[in-house]
Amino acid sequence: MADLVNAEHVNKSFSGVMALQDVQFNLRPGEVHALLGENGAGKSTLMKIISGVYTKDSGDIYINGKKLLHDLTPQSAQAMGIGIIHQELNLCPHLTVAENVFLNREFSSAVVLNEKKQNEETKNYLKALDLDIDSSTPVRKLPVSKQQMVEICKTLSMNANIIIMDEPTSALSEKEIEELFKLIAMLKSEGKGIIYISHRLEELSRIVDRVTILRDGKYIKTLNFAETNLPEIISYMVGRALTEKFPHVEVERGKKVLEVRNLSSPHGVGVKNVSFDLYQGELLAFAGLMGAGRTETVRAVSGADKTSGGEILIDGKPVKIHAPSNAISLGLFCAPEDRKRDGLCVKMTLTENITLPSLDIFSRLGIISRKLEGKKAEAMVTSLKIRTPSIDQYVRNLSGGNQQKVVVGKWLMRDAKIVIFDEPTRGIDVASKIEIYNIMNELKRNGIGVMFVSSELPEILGMADRILVMCNGKITAELKAGDTNQEEILKYATQY
Ligand SMILES: Nc1ncnc2c1ncn2[C@@H]1O[C@H](COP(=O)(O)OP(=O)(O)OP(=O)(O)O)[C@@H](O)[C@H]1O
Ligand SMILES: [Mg+2]
Repeated sequence: MADLVNAEHVNKSFSGVMALQDVQFNLRPGEVHALLGENGAGKSTLMKIISGVYTKDSGDIYINGKKLLHDLTPQSAQAMGIGIIHQELNLCPHLTVAENVFLNREFSSAVVLNEKKQNEETKNYLKALDLDIDSSTPVRKLPVSKQQMVEICKTLSMNANIIIMDEPTSALSEKEIEELFKLIAMLKSEGKGIIYISHRLEELSRIVDRVTILRDGKYIKTLNFAETNLPEIISYMVGRALTEKFPHVEVERGKKVLEVRNLSSPHGVGVKNVSFDLYQGELLAFAGLMGAGRTETVRAVSGADKTSGGEILIDGKPVKIHAPSNAISLGLFCAPEDRKRDGLCVKMTLTENITLPSLDIFSRLGIISRKLEGKKAEAMVTSLKIRTPSIDQYVRNLSGGNQQKVVVGKWLMRDAKIVIFDEPTRGIDVASKIEIYNIMNELKRNGIGVMFVSSELPEILGMADRILVMCNGKITAELKAGDTNQEEILKYATQY
């Protein structure tokens, strides 16, 4: 049987920078084919070419064995059965779930929109994914993980037989991932092909048949998953073997820097009576399932959300944090979870984003020193290994993982007492994760109190000093990272 997709000798550059160089890739019917590579390797670019979002500079693409004579457009790709779930969510926040699923292909008779039919169809897809979402809810009211599932529903409803999933699980809960994997198995059994991009390499073994690895925009290798292993895959991705996955350092704990007492969200939703301490030179992790209240806790502490009652003390002194700007002036910084909504101005350049929270440092008498700003941005690009042609690149043109590095990087400019990271390694490749861990270690060594929220238990166990487990808005356990394991954390994370 002909390959569903076959790409040969594909080249693509962006203003002189080669994103893809002589790349090949093929997808067979009924297979899950993972496309792997570090941040900026060219994965999303290749998928955008196959789905008609970008045009290639040169190369050949065959769909169902037939060579394409013209470049695809998003419409023609969709008509040929190619569906893509983009890495960055592409939903319209103010429209409902059903309106998003059927955007641009609304059910209508004459010119009257058949809202009922649209809602019913959407309900069927939501049911197939075992999702408890009301199809008439505006998408903006849903958490990121649910939005991601809506995005998946939308692609499924198009009846594609070539389905591209670009980082579909980075924002999903375990249960949602389970549902997605069941669905992938079903699509496979129907002879459809799935191209799967992920930095969560551990999950590959559950679904993947073959892997293709790109590095620096070049094709490296295609392997049968059964005949390879993760260390081998990683060495092809990175170009060298990675030894230490979690470079944990021991730092002597200093004074108590933060004390949180009985913090609660208004109206009894979100956080309930949360109390904890953070010490200088300590890495405190928040574990729990999606929706446990971890993000709500760090948002409340850093002034992003309102609180009702409770006390916060920094260096033993009671402080009032009503807004992020209060927090920043007290030396408390938070790199948020949702990079597109809270973390980045994608229409600004990398330098502008990195230096935005620190303009006071870069300006004298209200004038920004561009030279100083540029120097700092260069230093950040080097230390975080951000892959970009220049510090003047617009953030929206960076690869997903490199955008995440900018979110982390912008807080490292400041003299901080407390730094909070919410899911800092989401969408980040294996080698760069280690760079971010090293930054956390560096902050620890400088006597800064560091907190991080993560959904990846191996990362929590590997990097944290102390772990707080949350469930239903409350802290259910405090554990020492060296004395616990995944099972124990999960036990407290599911305790009602
Ligand atoms: N629209 C664009 N304009 C300019 N450069 C771009 C554009 N889109 C992608 N690039 C560049 O092309 C390269 C490949 O990016 P791509 O998004 O394909 O990486 P990726 O492998 O998907 O990475 P990640 O794992 O971080 O998502 C990067 O250097 C990126 O900055
Ligand atoms: Mg990408």
